[in-house]
Amino acid sequence: MMFDLSHKKALVTGASKGIGRAIALSLAEQGVDLVISARTKAELEQLAGELKNKAVTCHYVVADLAKHEDVIKLAKEALAIYPTIDILVNNAGVSHPESALETAETSWDHTFDINVKALFFLSQQLAQPMLSQNYGRIINISSQAGLIALEDHAAYCASKGAVEMVSKVMALEWAKYGITVNCIAPTVINTPMAEMAFPTPEAKAKMLSKIPVGRFGEVEEVAAAVLFLASKEAAMITGDTLKIDGGWLVQ
Ligand SMILES: NC(=O)c1ccc[n+]([C@@H]2O[C@H](COP(=O)([O-])OP(=O)(O)OC[C@H]3O[C@@H](n4cnc5c(N)ncnc54)[C@H](OP(=O)(O)O)[C@@H]3O)[C@@H](O)[C@H]2O)c1
Repeated sequence: MMFDLSHKKALVTGASKGIGRAIALSLAEQGVDLVISARTKAELEQLAGELKNKAVTCHYVVADLAKHEDVIKLAKEALAIYPTIDILVNNAGVSHPESALETAETSWDHTFDINVKALFFLSQQLAQPMLSQNYGRIINISSQAGLIALEDHAAYCASKGAVEMVSKVMALEWAKYGITVNCIAPTVINTPMAEMAFPTPEAKAKMLSKIPVGRFGEVEEVAAAVLFLASKEAAMITGDTLKIDGGWLVQ
């Protein structure tokens, strides 16, 4: 069977809603045992409950990835549950839409703490046992905003650009240990974050006008890409970015 992920262990951050929730559900469908994390305990509990009927185990860890101590705590707790996490999906992310002239220092720091710093240090913590078993998959949910400019997204675009580059460095350093590190760069995907960033019909129409396929993406379309990059068949793909952008970036 291609893309057989059964009995692998995965940690998915930002799994309480949106894209991360869909990724967790898709991995579970493939027989992957999970640690799911976010700040909202009730949503994690609900997802873990939904997964009770599947033939997988699912543990949750509440963590605020804006706090470095929570990042380290999450890594330690995940490795206490499973000796190695085979698949790390760094999905948690935030956006504080503000014009470049109005971007507040607090928004900048919060965006970078979660989107970049937490992603890097969680990867660093979990890479060590991956190195020992000579196998690992790190999948970072970046954004088309890491590849092109979006108005009112200075901190977000800069943070996702940083995700793209730090992923390439980790890919380069850890390739010899059987660890691949890749990014997925979606366009607008129908989630609570997209609703917050593009709330009005006008804002949505402006984004839609740039997407040749003529629609926003769905969370399951991002999750499918995660399954592929997590597979052993994707072993020769590292340091790369898979765009899920309906053709936006061919223009
Ligand atoms: N939706 C899009 O259009 C789009 C496009 C391109 C890229 N992306 C990227 O895709 C990823 C997921 O986005 P989404 O649209 O699914 O966003 P979302 O609906 O807002 O969900 C974000 C997830 O991140 C978690 N999170 C937020 N702040 C956190 C914190 N301080 N500590 C721990 N977890 C935190 C949230 O959980 P809690 O609130 O429970 O903590 C939630 O599970 C992000 O990295 C985003 O940048 C999204």
